[in-house]
Amino acid sequence: MSKGKKVAIVTGANSGVGFEVTKGLLKNNFHVVMACRSIEKANKAKEQILNDLPSSKLTVMAIDLSDFESVKTFAQAFKSKFQHLDILVNNAGILFNKLQKNSANIEMQFATNHLGHFLLTSLLIERMPDSKDSRVVSLSSLAHKKSEIFFDDINCESQTKWDAPYAQSKLACLIFADELQRKLQVAGKKIISVSAHPGGTDSGLFENMPSIFVSILRYTFVPIFLHSTENAAKPILMAALDNGVKGGEYFGPTGLFEMKGPAGIAKRTKYSQREDVAARLWKISEELTGSAFKI
Ligand SMILES: NC(=O)c1ccc[n+]([C@@H]2O[C@H](COP(=O)([O-])OP(=O)(O)OC[C@H]3O[C@@H](n4cnc5c(N)ncnc54)[C@H](OP(=O)(O)O)[C@@H]3O)[C@@H](O)[C@H]2O)c1
Repeated sequence: MSKGKKVAIVTGANSGVGFEVTKGLLKNNFHVVMACRSIEKANKAKEQILNDLPSSKLTVMAIDLSDFESVKTFAQAFKSKFQHLDILVNNAGILFNKLQKNSANIEMQFATNHLGHFLLTSLLIERMPDSKDSRVVSLSSLAHKKSEIFFDDINCESQTKWDAPYAQSKLACLIFADELQRKLQVAGKKIISVSAHPGGTDSGLFENMPSIFVSILRYTFVPIFLHSTENAAKPILMAALDNGVKGGEYFGPTGLFEMKGPAGIAKRTKYSQREDVAARLWKISEELTGSAFKI
């Protein structure tokens, strides 16, 4: 059992934004649990971090967010090792250009980006101290602006745009953060639920995009519109660590088209703030994960 030091979990900590968020938390003296689907990749990332920050407390643990049994196994293993959790960064994400489903027949991006984190949070929140420094940080995206929740087509099988499932999943992450905050408030808890997006950064997320998009992005957009992964992690670290943060706030880069620039409050759609949509999303998330989320 780990006592004393503040503990954070970062999902998808082995690459991209999660890797930089992990380093930021370590510099702020957290013991970070790297919750990753590939132990091999996670151990390599850990080694790389320890080269730069040798006195860091880092633990690698396995999780596949698209597989709800794996999420439950992770939560159990975490609880047996750690008595408390101070910050949960729901960072892991995937973007596909073809319809893929998990073993429960749920569209893979909705399952991984939203449902896996919904379930993980529901299983771990009991270990979070009732303090304003306890935070759940959910990763959304500018892509949320392009979507609604397709309650009658949650697997996006009738959607024609290739990135519709990703956009829906990232909208779900944002709506989840708000609804969680409302529920925490109603329960009289001090724990904070916040959300953030990194703007745009060239990361592993690009790997499954249509190759034509990647070429256009890398040779035209990336140098002008996107920022380094280190800078992309800053809004997430602001949400996780800044003193003045209030529950329900949404952070992102405030510069050019919100793709880069200094971290601050991010813009969001009216749809993303609809409480009726949030309540409905919460209900189907409980149904699809087979888990009642108790606060
Ligand atoms: N990059 C951008 O421009 C951008 C823009 C808006 C929002 N975001 C969001 O930022 C977050 C981080 O993305 P990134 O850009 O850093 O991409 P990335 O470099 O591809 O990192 C994604 C991480 O998620 C992990 N992951 C994927 N599927 C998983 C699963 N089933 N279970 C556990 N972990 C899984 C990946 O593991 P593997 O290494 O094993 O694949 C990787 O560690 C995502 O939530 C993404 O939606 C990114």
